[in-house]
Amino acid sequence: MVMFSVTRKQSAPIDGQKPGTSGLRKKVKVFMQPHYLQNFVQSTFNALTKDKVRGATLVVSGDGRYYSKDAIQIIIKMAAANGVRRIWVGQNGLLSTPAVSAVIRERVGVDGSKASGAFILTASHNPGGPHEDFGIKYNMENGGPAPEGITDKIYENTKTINEYLIAEDLPDVDIAAIGVTSFGGPEGQFDVEIFDSASDYVKLMKSIFDFKSIRKLLSSPNFSFCYDALHGVGGAYAKPIFVEELGAQESSLLNCTPKEDFGGGHPDPNLTYAKELVARMGLGKLDSQGEPPEFGAAADGDADRNMVLGKRFFVTPSDSVAIIAANAVESIPYFSSGLKGVARSMPTSAALDVVAKHLKLKFFEVPTGWKFFGNLMDAGLCSICGEESFGTGSDHIREKDGIWAVLAWLSIIAYKNKENLSGGKLVTVEDIVRNHWAIYGRHYYTRYDYENVDAGAAKELMAYLVKLQSSLPEVNKIVKGIHSDVSNVASADEFEYKDPVDGSISKHQGIRYLFEDGSRLVFRLSGTGSEGATIRLYIEQYEKDSSKTGRDSQEALAPLVDVALKLSKMQEFTGRSAPTVIT
Ligand code: G6P
Ligand code: ZN
Repeated sequence: MVMFSVTRKQSAPIDGQKPGTSGLRKKVKVFMQPHYLQNFVQSTFNALTKDKVRGATLVVSGDGRYYSKDAIQIIIKMAAANGVRRIWVGQNGLLSTPAVSAVIRERVGVDGSKASGAFILTASHNPGGPHEDFGIKYNMENGGPAPEGITDKIYENTKTINEYLIAEDLPDVDIAAIGVTSFGGPEGQFDVEIFDSASDYVKLMKSIFDFKSIRKLLSSPNFSFCYDALHGVGGAYAKPIFVEELGAQESSLLNCTPKEDFGGGHPDPNLTYAKELVARMGLGKLDSQGEPPEFGAAADGDADRNMVLGKRFFVTPSDSVAIIAANAVESIPYFSSGLKGVARSMPTSAALDVVAKHLKLKFFEVPTGWKFFGNLMDAGLCSICGEESFGTGSDHIREKDGIWAVLAWLSIIAYKNKENLSGGKLVTVEDIVRNHWAIYGRHYYTRYDYENVDAGAAKELMAYLVKLQSSLPEVNKIVKGIHSDVSNVASADEFEYKDPVDGSISKHQGIRYLFEDGSRLVFRLSGTGSEGATIRLYIEQYEKDSSKTGRDSQEALAPLVDVALKLSKMQEFTGRSAPTVIT
């Protein structure tokens, strides 16, 4: 057995290591500075209780982006030096964020051990490569992101750190080869176990969904399917699940080889960045030749996000979660005994609220960020949740789950078509959505993103909007001056959330303007960018009249968009005449 020793390395605080919505995300060159990653990792160890470090089993893996391989070796050496007993690594360092959550909750190691936490190496949907982003976040024993209490402690520790522990003489571990390597340290044995990235996750999916009925759908001559991993880690799951388990054609997988730089693309599944899929589905400016598939989906870099498309049809994430919730009990075995409750983030449209009301389900509106759902799930209050930011999931794990969302949709399509798979007219994705609108009404919805805006200007815009809220008559005068037929603003506030489980309060979670007819304007600063500020503007309008739910969404929302841009003085503050991305 190879022996290692522990070195105490002198270090000093480095500015700017405050974790954002989903961990610390910075340019690769920032992470490559001496001691940068090491300081953050040691600060994390120091923020955990001793039993979660000494003798513990921890997972280290991620979406495979550039710098991950180096980071994994560094974290292994630091874990060894800090008295961790075992490190688990997905083969080649690959594990999707939902798979990490599943591994923490479900996996049993070769020696019967269980993991108590994970370092996830990802910057999610941000581009990768030597000049792009890297990221790291810590997940807890429940499989969910560390709560604010821990991330605050980590940040405090980064401000006072003066040394970190590392086993410099521990040789690099071959993370391509499955198996266990054991080392001996001052405190005893230390193991590194490399395991298959997909098998635990595939097993979990098979326990949730009826794979037989999805397989039947995928092999039906009536149905066609397409999945784009945007060269993220989703590719490592797409083949085992969609091709090997469910019988899809290999040609239905696009960009499913994980790459360190995501093939130079922006691995964010939306109508702007998932260009190839969008073209294939007949929704692009330059569409591919041939008839589009009936169903298409894409994932982000770490495969927790999803975008769902029908043939020439976009399903908004807000509608997606509402439709999944409305159909889950009949279509998905995991939910057959009913839903405990449902939840959405504040800027997500109220489509889910209407479903919850109809089905008499417990309902929660939480701030942006998946961790808020985790608390509800741990307390048994919520089964299905979703966010407008292309995140959908359930209490099977404590992260959003892109492949789960695709399987949920396939389950619903299979259920709706159980009579007509061998012939007859297919009930399409578009039919399912339009039918949903006819029953529940439609929430027209769009999001405008202004990326990499000057941080000072963004703050000023937000401050201006808060100040404006102190006089509603003034607000309504402005609104009416822009569009006399837009309804009145009934109330305006900054969203604040009191967690019903632990009582913690989260303030300043977005600026809301709520109109009398149920329309909403929400302004937020993104918590996930790595440069400048990103302003997000969310625009929503409810239409109950089923004869009016079929309009083009940008057209239906045009007056409200106009009001939002002028009310906020968007161009004046940001200098931008148009958003970077519209979804
Ligand atoms: C991450 C989180 C999501 C959240 C999203 C918001 O993806 O996991 O829960 O909705 O970030 O990002 P934003 O950039 O709007 O803060
Ligand atoms: Zn992600």
